[in-house]
Amino acid sequence: MGSDLLERQLASLLYTRDWLTNAAQTVAFIRQQFADLNWAGFYLQRQDNVLILGPFQGLPACNPIPFERGVCGAAARSLQTQRVEDVHAFDGHIACDPASRSELVVPIVVEGRLWGVLDIDSPIPGRFSAADQAIIEALCARFVDACDFAGSARGF
Ligand code: SME
Repeated sequence: MGSDLLERQLASLLYTRDWLTNAAQTVAFIRQQFADLNWAGFYLQRQDNVLILGPFQGLPACNPIPFERGVCGAAARSLQTQRVEDVHAFDGHIACDPASRSELVVPIVVEGRLWGVLDIDSPIPGRFSAADQAIIEALCARFVDACDFAGSARGF
């Protein structure tokens, strides 16, 4: 399915300006639309340099994640999407669910500050292509556009 259609479908779901509601809808939508995922969720920077578990779908997950750790921490530190084809080959990967084999983590930047990350896991090695990355990044941009973060840049 093309990015444009997915973006429009997500935008139609995000009809409040509430970041919490919209975050929950976004992970549910991604879980629904992308095959072979075992986890999708947000981690929020609710205190400096630490990621705190937010809305997600999947097994109970590791929390908190300091910026020094994991694929999520690498995305938070670098502000670059991390697309990991084989999590076993990623030094420092945090195995919340041993079934996870590949991972995509997109940093969410609001007004120049890291608000959080979107983390997606798959039991299939190499599940995420560069095209998937572009689509998920576009969906994250739609999520940011749909939310009011005023007075809650730290996610609360
Ligand atoms: N694997 C992640 C931790 C979060 S779970 O996948 C939900 C990481 O290495 O940062």
